[in-house]
Amino acid sequence: MKYDAQKFRVLRNEKIADGIFDMWVENPELSQLAKPGQFAHILVPGKTLRRPISICEADKTCLRLVYQVKGEGTEILSNIKIGEYLDIIAPLGNGFEIKDDKKYCFIGGGIGVPPMLYASKQKEKPVVITGFRNKDLVILQSDFRKDNCKLYLTTDDGSAGRKAFVTDVLSEILDEIDEVCACGPTPMLKAIAKICEEADKPCQLSLEERMGCGIGACLVCACAVKRSDGTEDFVHVCKDGPVFDSREVVL
Ligand code: FES
Repeated sequence: MKYDAQKFRVLRNEKIADGIFDMWVENPELSQLAKPGQFAHILVPGKTLRRPISICEADKTCLRLVYQVKGEGTEILSNIKIGEYLDIIAPLGNGFEIKDDKKYCFIGGGIGVPPMLYASKQKEKPVVITGFRNKDLVILQSDFRKDNCKLYLTTDDGSAGRKAFVTDVLSEILDEIDEVCACGPTPMLKAIAKICEEADKPCQLSLEERMGCGIGACLVCACAVKRSDGTEDFVHVCKDGPVFDSREVVL
């Protein structure tokens, strides 16, 4: 498959929480192809490596990318001005498979919350659980509320919402849902996978891994999976994921 980087025009790029930015980029041809759980691979001006950022929302003309400033690359990105153009390969990866006849719980932890907004929009009244370290990092609550979902907010220190982990809430509402989709730090995903396995609920996990090429041509994002015969194999998070069945992926 051939991947062409395209120019996306920046329509918005503003801080929404401590070190977290909300960017809208326009490219009608590509934005309308984006599915929940896919990602955009952005070439930061002046850098050679691209940065993968999960797609928070997409409409007929734009992609919404909510990202955390973690190093020099994302620092440069946070200073991009409205009207500038970015070189982005998108949409990439395999997203969530969301079935019409199932009730879902969408769970996001920290910067794993943004992709759950687009995913939760696929359902009428989804259950959404969001977790953050503290109140300064809380994002997207009004966006979720607009969509008529049953929204839970947790923080590790109790400075906003309930002092709890997302897994505490999940254990309480398990009877209300059929399947789980989640994105966030690996320990959180592991804990969610365990709860779902014990309750026999299907669970899809979006892995946040450091990526290089983003299209399956290097080994930077290798991850282990269990095959049905019990053996382990390696796949690429960028091309085979970033969304995996929790029963297959080795975390
Ligand atoms: Fe290169 Fe996945 S980032 S193979």
